[in-house]
Amino acid sequence: METKILTCSREGLALAKHYIEEGDVVAFHTETVYGLGANAFSDEAVLKVFALKGRPADNPLIVHVHKEYDITPLIDGEPHYAAALRKAFLPGPLTMVYPSTGKVSRYVSCGLDTLAIRVPSSPAAQAFLKAVNLPVAAPSANLSKHVSPVTARHVFDDFNGKIGLILDGGACSGGIESTVLDCTGEIPQILREGLVTREMIAEVTGQCNVYRAKSGERPKSPGMAYKHYSPRCRTAYFTRGELEKAVACYQEEEKSGAPCFLCESEVCALLQEYQTLDLGGTPEEMARRLYALLRQGERQATLLIAIEPQEKGGVMAGVMNRMKRAFGVEHGTEE
Ligand code: TXA
Ligand code: MG
Repeated sequence: METKILTCSREGLALAKHYIEEGDVVAFHTETVYGLGANAFSDEAVLKVFALKGRPADNPLIVHVHKEYDITPLIDGEPHYAAALRKAFLPGPLTMVYPSTGKVSRYVSCGLDTLAIRVPSSPAAQAFLKAVNLPVAAPSANLSKHVSPVTARHVFDDFNGKIGLILDGGACSGGIESTVLDCTGEIPQILREGLVTREMIAEVTGQCNVYRAKSGERPKSPGMAYKHYSPRCRTAYFTRGELEKAVACYQEEEKSGAPCFLCESEVCALLQEYQTLDLGGTPEEMARRLYALLRQGERQATLLIAIEPQEKGGVMAGVMNRMKRAFGVEHGTEE
């Protein structure tokens, strides 16, 4: 199959609509990462997404809709704080988990009685979802366990010849996946940290918890149990206090391979005589650059050596979660 990369031109949108209506899969841009979308009402189409990614059958998908789409038939009630959250953050990088009416394919939620819904804000995502006018079930458009894609080229690298169309909306401005928020309880609970932070949510709702799976327990957001976001080269991870050890590790690798550091700008400045990939200086920059640099790192290095950023606050909780999982420092409760 030829994999076309088209912009959201009339031709691109018409072809996307055709594919989705035929039960095929289309990759599309969002403000977080690219998604691999299928008609959420179709069992067959949703199963294609799992098969293409090699995704475990117990890891549910997020349904994406355009901003005027009426989600009421899809959800079975909502808590008192949901409307205020939608008003504050949607369209945008917040996924809300509601009780489900079970109207979409049962494969979307993998047997859970909840449904995760997201209204992405990027103009390309809105144009695509509007053209299709169906709920689109979509995980990130990477092969399972690989680094999430933030350009059309990244999607192409994972799915060339396997899907018909990638709708190119340019580089993703957010860079890490949406915040997944459980909205089925009295107090909203973050299942996956992301660009909408706990502080931002608490400002609207008064309270917001962050879910931490107890060891041995199946996490509420099944995706968090899997090793994830991994570059395809060997990796090592050091804190800032271990910089000397990190340099020794680099020098050892240099004898037979091609090591490279991944660190914030300030640390890159200390490591000028070595190969470095610069994450930037602010939390937003680090979120935006992380996945692109992990993909660049796996192409150019045999060993990618991360130095933990010192920067805290804002979206760093989400960035650190992705970094630690990419470097195998933390990977949930099961593989
Ligand atoms: O930014 C994003 O969210 C991107 C773009 C494409 O929208 N999508 C994305 O999808 O990251 P994915 O499939 O890679 O991650 C979905 C996460 C998983 O951790 C999954 O377990 C969780 O959402 N999830 C989906 N449905 C859920 C549900 N009903 N209850 C709890 N967690 C759910
Ligand atoms: Mg993913």
